[in-house]
Amino acid sequence: MKVTIILGSPRLDSNSEKLAKAAAATLLGPGEAPEIFRLNDLRYRGCQACMSCKTKTEVCVLKDDLARVLSVAAFSDFLILTTPIYIGEITAQLKAFIDRSYSWFKPDFVSSADPTRLAPGKKLLFVVTQGNPDLGAYKSNIDAYLGYFGSHGIKAAAFQAPIREGNIETLRPDLLADVVAAAKAL
Ligand SMILES: Cc1cc2nc3c(=O)[nH]c(=O)nc-3n(C[C@H](O)[C@H](O)[C@H](O)COP(=O)(O)O)c2cc1C
Repeated sequence: MKVTIILGSPRLDSNSEKLAKAAAATLLGPGEAPEIFRLNDLRYRGCQACMSCKTKTEVCVLKDDLARVLSVAAFSDFLILTTPIYIGEITAQLKAFIDRSYSWFKPDFVSSADPTRLAPGKKLLFVVTQGNPDLGAYKSNIDAYLGYFGSHGIKAAAFQAPIREGNIETLRPDLLADVVAAAKAL
């Protein structure tokens, strides 16, 4: 199984990264490893709305660092996307990736019963860290992203971790156990 982690936090060794790696470890066998992209290290632009992916090409025409991320993600069996909540939203780094995944839609996606270029059977765990202990605070927002991935035929679920910067292993080891359960449940 091909597992890909796309990290949306700018922090090295962030808590969302630790949660994603714990989730991936439970999905993979001995000697297997996830492919990991740290978006903050990459150079890329947001979607330019050029519509080339609907009129000329099968993939996004922008030839920047995100091109490979989009390709690897499109051919993965299990995606783990991570983000902390910044000002009530996912990070700008992850949002730009999601906007560029618009290129996964076929030209007739609005009216088609089969709108996506992705193969069926993919799964996605959306790992969200947040300082706010209220898990309902950003739920509608997170649900909208799950719905978007659902339109690509991806079975998607969210795992929200209420924790601030600080070591999750000592502060909230229960969350590391819970994310493993969430990945297994998918
Ligand atoms: C610029 C900035 C904005 C933030 N805004 C929010 C917010 O709106 N709501 C919230 O719950 N936490 C907010 N936080 C806290 C982070 O979401 C929280 O510390 C998170 O656990 C960091 O995750 P990471 O270790 O994966 O980077 C913010 C942090 C930063 C740096």
